[in-house]
Amino acid sequence: MAQPKYTRIDNKRPSSYCSTVTIVVFVALCLFGIWMMTSSSIVPVQTVDVSEENKNDVREQKEVKEQATDTSNNNSPQFEDNRGDLSDDTTKGDGIVTPDKNNDVPEKQKEKLDEKPEENSSEDTKTVNNDSNVSDKKSDSDENEKKSDSAETGKGSDSDENEKKSESEESEKKSDSEEPEKKSDSEEAEKKSDSEDTEKKSDSDETEKKSEDASETLDKNEEKVVQSDNKESDENSTETKTSDNANNQGSNEVYPSVAQSELLNESTISNGSFSTQATESKDEKESQVSSKESTGYTWKLCNVTAGPDYIPCLDNLKAIRNLPSTKHYEHRERQCPEEPPTCLVPLPEGYKRPIEWPKSREKIWYSNVPHTKLAQYKGHQNWVKVTGEYLTFPGGGTQFKHGALHYIDTIQQSVPDIAWGKRSRVILDVGCGVASFGGFLFERDVLTMSLAPKDEHEAQVQFALERGIPAISAVMGTKRLPYPGKVFDVVHCARCRVPWHIEGGKLLLELNRVLRPGGFFVWSATPIYQKLPEDVEIWREMKELTKAMCWEVVSISRDKLNGVGIAVYKKPTSNECYEKRSKNQPPICPDSDDPNAAWNVPLQACMHKVPVNSTERGSQWPEKWPARLTNTPYWLINSQVGVYGKPAPEDFSADSEHWKRIVSKSYLSGMGINWSNVRNVMDMRTVYGGFAAALKDVNVWVMNVVSVNSPDTLPIIYERGLFGMYHDWCESFSTYPRSYDLLHADHLFSNVKNRCNLKAVVAEVDRILRPEGKFIVRDTVDIINELESMVKSMQWEVRMTYSKDKVGILCVQKSIWRPKELETLEYAIG
Ligand SMILES: *[C@@H]1O[C@H](CO)[C@@H](O)[C@H](O)[C@H]1NC(C)=O
Ligand SMILES: *[C@@H]1O[C@H](CO)[C@@H](O)[C@H](O)[C@H]1NC(C)=O
Ligand SMILES: *[C@@H]1O[C@H](CO)[C@@H](O)[C@H](O)[C@H]1NC(C)=O
Ligand SMILES: *[C@@H]1O[C@H](CO)[C@@H](O)[C@H](O)[C@H]1NC(C)=O
Ligand SMILES: *[C@@H]1O[C@H](CO)[C@@H](O)[C@H](O)[C@H]1NC(C)=O
Ligand SMILES: *[C@@H]1O[C@H](CO)[C@@H](O)[C@H](O)[C@H]1NC(C)=O
Ligand SMILES: *[C@@H]1O[C@H](CO)[C@@H](O)[C@H](O)[C@H]1NC(C)=O
Ligand SMILES: *[C@@H]1O[C@H](CO)[C@@H](O)[C@H](O)[C@H]1NC(C)=O
Ligand SMILES: *[C@@H]1O[C@H](CO)[C@@H](O)[C@H](O)[C@H]1NC(C)=O
Repeated sequence: MAQPKYTRIDNKRPSSYCSTVTIVVFVALCLFGIWMMTSSSIVPVQTVDVSEENKNDVREQKEVKEQATDTSNNNSPQFEDNRGDLSDDTTKGDGIVTPDKNNDVPEKQKEKLDEKPEENSSEDTKTVNNDSNVSDKKSDSDENEKKSDSAETGKGSDSDENEKKSESEESEKKSDSEEPEKKSDSEEAEKKSDSEDTEKKSDSDETEKKSEDASETLDKNEEKVVQSDNKESDENSTETKTSDNANNQGSNEVYPSVAQSELLNESTISNGSFSTQATESKDEKESQVSSKESTGYTWKLCNVTAGPDYIPCLDNLKAIRNLPSTKHYEHRERQCPEEPPTCLVPLPEGYKRPIEWPKSREKIWYSNVPHTKLAQYKGHQNWVKVTGEYLTFPGGGTQFKHGALHYIDTIQQSVPDIAWGKRSRVILDVGCGVASFGGFLFERDVLTMSLAPKDEHEAQVQFALERGIPAISAVMGTKRLPYPGKVFDVVHCARCRVPWHIEGGKLLLELNRVLRPGGFFVWSATPIYQKLPEDVEIWREMKELTKAMCWEVVSISRDKLNGVGIAVYKKPTSNECYEKRSKNQPPICPDSDDPNAAWNVPLQACMHKVPVNSTERGSQWPEKWPARLTNTPYWLINSQVGVYGKPAPEDFSADSEHWKRIVSKSYLSGMGINWSNVRNVMDMRTVYGGFAAALKDVNVWVMNVVSVNSPDTLPIIYERGLFGMYHDWCESFSTYPRSYDLLHADHLFSNVKNRCNLKAVVAEVDRILRPEGKFIVRDTVDIINELESMVKSMQWEVRMTYSKDKVGILCVQKSIWRPKELETLEYAIG
């Protein structure tokens, strides 16, 4: 039992394998005993389930890794395999897009920690195990070897250390099972910070081991689980949801959609909390079938006129050609193809990994957004300059020749009530230019939703996103913006050239809809400070319109440095003024008009009444930032039932805690994600914005998407000082390709599976995500399996996958791979 193990691992494999099995079986028997006394008979069923599902996973992974296998279980091909993997990483590192190799390190080490016990062979205990000779186990240990090999390849001297670490872990385990072993002090020292992990792990191990199949389960889980934290969170989430579901039964939802019940079912075991073996087996068979079916995904590259900037719903040229009119910018509105595309969008020539925030606010790679026309057109306005390989943004946008911050502070000086970052937290910037306003408002703790129409020559939204500033492609056209009513603290528009005053003020009335009662409209445009006849006329009409809308003129001032005038209006907080008007023009909307209805709803030239009942949202201003992030909104009351079935306030805080735990324990540290490379984040299916709230102290912003068929919780998200929008994932999102660094999908795919083409949704994820971007999915096991094989077929790198009971989690990283074959989308050819 000499402890330095420099020899090839294949020498040790069989024995180590046995030793682990030995330990495991022993521990399992002990625990089985304990469990027999303490728990109900349901647990083993679950555990069996897990192991079976894991088998599945293992099989899949094996398939992938096995390219160069020879028949004997000998190590060298695997070794080479792994070299391949590793050099993949390294070449990527040298390539166009540089990954942080560091990313991988923690994860790999953890994996090693988990795996190593198997390699620690103890010849004396070799004998025991005849009954657990399961073929899966071999593949399992094979894989472990591969992994450890790869680690060795990377850092020869490391393996020694790691082995020691694992030994210390092993000894801890053994002491659990009352087989204490000697270990040297130096090993002790190696344990260091790992000890916490190890401890947690042994905790969770205990739960795992409660079955006849324990040895197998344990092995599998060691292999699959990168970090026990994840598991813990998962367990807890499952628990929470289970009980929630129970509560939920028979209660009335306050939220309009019924789809929520699905969310609960997905993550719970129905049938009085627990499913039967029959159901499980059936599901398992189905999922096996589906994972077999799904191996044959083929992908093609979209052949479209928009090329690498393709946005399916905005580049439907055929539909645009057939529009009866474009007078209201219909050609910039969403015109989604009947069938969402399943092809992948090409990468621009010379694409580089985007520059990191905050540097990206000043400059971005020209090759990533090669729009020379914008630079030519706007160059003289001090907006954008081509500087060598970069596009630079001197000072900000058009308005801010001398600095956006000066402009921002001027606004606050003239209207102190605006109190950036305290009273005003979430704002809407209409016609955002390159979103410099929003980019600099981050320094005042303000979150800005910027929007601008898609325009071939001025891909402003693409620039904004490339700079790490939130923006979507949208236009004030014929439809409502995809936000609920009364959510923005401030709406801003700088020289946005939107014809506010025409058609009964329809467009300004849309801003009135999304503005909170008591919120400000900040308008800086030439009519305020220039005396050209056109400006004078617009000013006169605006004056009339805003008066009729009961907007109070709070301030008209000048930012002398930037040479602009700023008018600030305030939306009323009561209905008094509306009632006093001599003429009901613009009219008050009928009570039947829901101000929150915003998905493909035509604009209405009317105003919604201001809520006055103090239990209603909008009757009071939210608490100041940052208190509003964590405090329960005043209008969530106990008589309402939350999405998870508890009274709404309780539901809300449970969700917050849930995500805080998952994010801090797992996402921030356990997945090998280097968060300094992450800036633009999307939660593709949020409930209360818990995920985004938990990322508050990370330098990212999160677009919270509330699915149109889920309970409408978006107002809660805004009330917390976060932002988001409505979306239907059966269609493409109004953003440019390669605009997000991380996508998070919690039970999104099981939700859309029955309604939309899953492959198209995955293609959309690919479109939105930057190369090397991360994709975290939590969903049912069969969805996870299906997605895993889909993304693998796009050559994405699986960073982590783990499943327990019927829920799983998957973390993958997009690659720069693109298919060769083209698929021409006729409707997108111009
Ligand atoms: C994360 O990435 C940054 C910049 O790419 C790098 O400086 C840093 O060392 C990385 N951190 C880790 C832990 O890998
Ligand atoms: C297993 O680990 C223990 C504790 O470090 C060590 O003494 C023993 O030699 C190891 N066994 C093998 C076979 O490596
Ligand atoms: C293992 O099984 C084989 C055949 O199944 C049997 O010959 C052998 O004695 C068994 N060994 C032990 C240790 O049980
Ligand atoms: C163990 O599995 C291998 C391959 O699956 C098989 O050839 C062998 O007979 C099995 N041994 C026992 C004891 O079941
Ligand atoms: C998981 O939930 C249990 C009870 O619900 C709690 O005692 C435990 O602390 C939770 N674990 C974590 C990591 O929050
Ligand atoms: C989900 O649960 C709801 C009740 O919570 C039930 O009505 C519905 O049938 C369940 N759906 C499935 C697929 O189990
Ligand atoms: C429990 O599960 C069984 C088998 O899946 C099913 O037939 C039965 O209807 C379920 N009972 C309830 C109450 O859900
Ligand atoms: C791509 O689309 C264009 C325009 O329709 C067409 O001429 C060309 O042949 C297509 N390329 C391929 C490979 O299909
Ligand atoms: C406010 O709304 C609540 C709940 O809808 C209702 O019970 C109460 O009577 C209302 N209060 C007033 C003053 O209208």
